[in-house]
Amino acid sequence: MSIAAPSTDVAPWWRRGVVYQVYIRSFADGSGDGTGDIAGLRSRLNYLAALGVDAIWITPWYPSPLHDGGYDVADYRDICARFGTLAEAESLIDEAHELGIKVLIDLVPNHTSVEHRWFQAALSAEPGSAERDRYIFRRGKGPDGSEPPSNWRSVFGGPAWSRVDDGDWYLHLFDVTQPDLNWENSEVTEEFLDIFAFWLDRGVDGMRVDVAHGLVKDLTFPDIVKSAEVLTSEQLANHPHWDRDGVHDIIRSWRSLLDRYDDRMMVAEAWVHPERLPLYLRPDEYHQSFNFDLLDTDWDASQFTATIESSAGAAADVGATTTWVLSNHDVMRHATRYGLPTATPWRRWLLDGPHDILDALLGARRARAAILLTLSLPGAAYLYQGEELGLPEVWDLPEDVLDDPTWVLSEHKVKGRDGCRVPIPWSSSGPSFGFGSAKPWLPQPAGFGAISVEAQDDDPSSMLNLYRTALALRKKWFTEDEDLEMFDVGSDVVAFTRGSGARCLLNMGDTPVCIDDVEGTVLLSSVRVETSIEGHLELPANAAVWLAPIRTDS
Ligand code: GLC
Repeated sequence: MSIAAPSTDVAPWWRRGVVYQVYIRSFADGSGDGTGDIAGLRSRLNYLAALGVDAIWITPWYPSPLHDGGYDVADYRDICARFGTLAEAESLIDEAHELGIKVLIDLVPNHTSVEHRWFQAALSAEPGSAERDRYIFRRGKGPDGSEPPSNWRSVFGGPAWSRVDDGDWYLHLFDVTQPDLNWENSEVTEEFLDIFAFWLDRGVDGMRVDVAHGLVKDLTFPDIVKSAEVLTSEQLANHPHWDRDGVHDIIRSWRSLLDRYDDRMMVAEAWVHPERLPLYLRPDEYHQSFNFDLLDTDWDASQFTATIESSAGAAADVGATTTWVLSNHDVMRHATRYGLPTATPWRRWLLDGPHDILDALLGARRARAAILLTLSLPGAAYLYQGEELGLPEVWDLPEDVLDDPTWVLSEHKVKGRDGCRVPIPWSSSGPSFGFGSAKPWLPQPAGFGAISVEAQDDDPSSMLNLYRTALALRKKWFTEDEDLEMFDVGSDVVAFTRGSGARCLLNMGDTPVCIDDVEGTVLLSSVRVETSIEGHLELPANAAVWLAPIRTDS
């Protein structure tokens, strides 16, 4: 396959940018209360600039009871006291800009926190009132209304409806503390336009929009017969609350607001079928959308190649670029995922194991190879904090520290997402490995010191330095255009050439592959590779290499 994207002379930064996700609770704690915050982030901006990222995306930092890590927002126009103040947020935006780093914030329009003033007003008001109409309240089924209005399930487990004292039920597709907003109510649509403007006026470069495939619901829909697993890219055709066509009108209204500002963007978190994703990327909708397909693809060359071709192709068809995501705050860290046997259902494995099937060294080796792949593909890349250190999933957190609502709502059947949210180790020693002066909100394993920033900083072979070098080389070799030409060098290898002539070869098999007639010099490799003057390249198992073309003009 070959994709020659329309040449864009001056591509906006986000088309080919690298965005670093800051899960603020776990990045760095400046105030000394055990929770990461804006002060901690400001103190590490130089680290991020030196890493070479183009932007940061900060997970929700608004006032919140933190029942879902801040995705339960109580006030969209302020900052959670645990994270800092609005003035500190403004300083952070300025300081990041001075270092050439763009700032994306996380907007959560599908639901608020129960502590939001609107929900509090709804609780004090009568059934059928204007206050209740901002949310989705309904009478229950059965003679006395004691059964939920439908059998919809919460993503985190349990029913998606909860009952209030006067008998009304409210919808919450996530935690019971996250009531869904009614996007057919004009007060809701106007409020969010105002919230967008509030942050754009403070200089943010864009928004990551949470649950972008939610918002619109069809309450007349009969019960869901087969409950489809959400947060996967399954086909969810005509689903009553995911990916409904009406969502696109809302997106267009946001886009026309953004277009009044210079150079701003929004990226969708839309877990929809790959065929439906391009709809979110039409010229008057999102600038970009996460593509979670690679994250769900097994470590297998033919499957990776298929995912790359379909994702890059679908985005190019609508004039967009795709995004490459290996990890985020909702999934098992890829250094661990790739250490599990192919097709292990990792969400279940977290709780049920068997845990001795994990090959952590293999996972780390594959993670090194995987980042060379994603950073050389056309489009944007989203990195999740700590992946540049090769952090593994902390799968053995004691049950009594688990904080993800999934753990309780699934009645302890799904362990949840805490294992990828453990605070970052900045130094090799000390009680929180440099995260902050207090005990961190989630415990770090003893082994974190050996893979801390300090431990890796001066080691040329460390994961951190692989990322730094790769990010610097990416700018030179892989961001000039969006051309992609796949080529075949055997069934275990994913191989392609980019417009610059530079190539990436990833051997996903368990044995080395000898490749003949290789022209070019090694720019970077995930493990040591040998090339011979006759043009043979021996590419070790589970390893990747970047090759620069031989110059013909000298
Ligand atoms: C998104 C977030 C996730 C959150 C959910 C509900 O999927 O990434 O962390 O729990 O939305 O807001």
